[in-house]
Amino acid sequence: MEPNQFLKIESQVSSRVGSYYGLDEAALLTSKEDFNEIFNHFKDSSVYVELGSGHGHGPALFAQAFPHKKAFGIEFELARFKESLRLKSHFFLKNVDFILADLSVCKIPLGDVYFLYFPTGPILDRILKVLGESSHDFQLIAIESHGDLLPRLDREDWLTRQFEIPLRAERHYPNAVIYKKMSLKKVSFDDYSFIEKLFEIQDDDGSVWIGESFGMSWCKENLYNLQFPPRTINQSQILRVLGENDISGFLKELNSHRRKGLISFETDRGSFLGEIRKIFIRPSPFIELSTGVHLLFSEIISLKTP
Ligand SMILES: C[S@@+](CC[C@H](N)C(=O)[O-])C[C@H]1O[C@@H](n2cnc3c(N)ncnc32)[C@H](O)[C@@H]1O
Repeated sequence: MEPNQFLKIESQVSSRVGSYYGLDEAALLTSKEDFNEIFNHFKDSSVYVELGSGHGHGPALFAQAFPHKKAFGIEFELARFKESLRLKSHFFLKNVDFILADLSVCKIPLGDVYFLYFPTGPILDRILKVLGESSHDFQLIAIESHGDLLPRLDREDWLTRQFEIPLRAERHYPNAVIYKKMSLKKVSFDDYSFIEKLFEIQDDDGSVWIGESFGMSWCKENLYNLQFPPRTINQSQILRVLGENDISGFLKELNSHRRKGLISFETDRGSFLGEIRKIFIRPSPFIELSTGVHLLFSEIISLKTP
């Protein structure tokens, strides 16, 4: 593609999480040579599904190489999706469908081979849950993105590494790694990252605080980074997952304000401004602000976004 054409498309891309905004073409997209080399190993596959299909090169090349087979590409950035549609009509491809959708919520088509050059985090956790719990078997082509995708996939005991294909483009890991689904995925702790639950979490000193499951991401071994509050926890610190009835109205209010950033508090001791970090519930209920200030639940008169 002409460098100017690539830049024109990319200038319309948002900077939301996962969009890879601001990368050059070689870093953002798998090269045509690499796609062709990979597809040489999938001549027996019938349905190719690319999750996060960028400018649509992968599905379009698959559809061109195998006119009697089917390809899908799912992408949430409109400018990249439009470029994919342009390719489809330019090459008169009838056997490829591009879908403008967010993989955090959308339906994933059934395929016998999936392609992932994708960041780790809650959306990948969701993709793995959907694919792992579906009854059909498939292969998964993975290209390392930041150094954590392959370790993350290796943790899934229902996926087994099959073989590797050397890549020409410079990547964090030099080969595409091919996995095969060997069994059904069991329920796992990672499944909490894309649903809204509250955890009771215990620190070494015995105090217990509330953290959100939504947005957490696996870091290494049993360690997870929470998004709300931004803390690293060991899975063994989690005492329980709270149900709707376990949460008081005030705790719900505090927790909903935690996502909003700066909050101003009126208390008996005066006014305080800060982001809510840990919400402690035992031994005594208080919140820790980003400024280091502690406020007892009982001394908070009112709170609001400034
Ligand atoms: C590193 S690029 C790879 C593009 C393409 N698969 C390739 O190899 O050439 C990852 C793509 O995933 C897309 N993506 C990230 N998060 C997504 C989401 N939640 N839903 C749909 N697409 C997403 C990004 O917009 C980006 O185009």
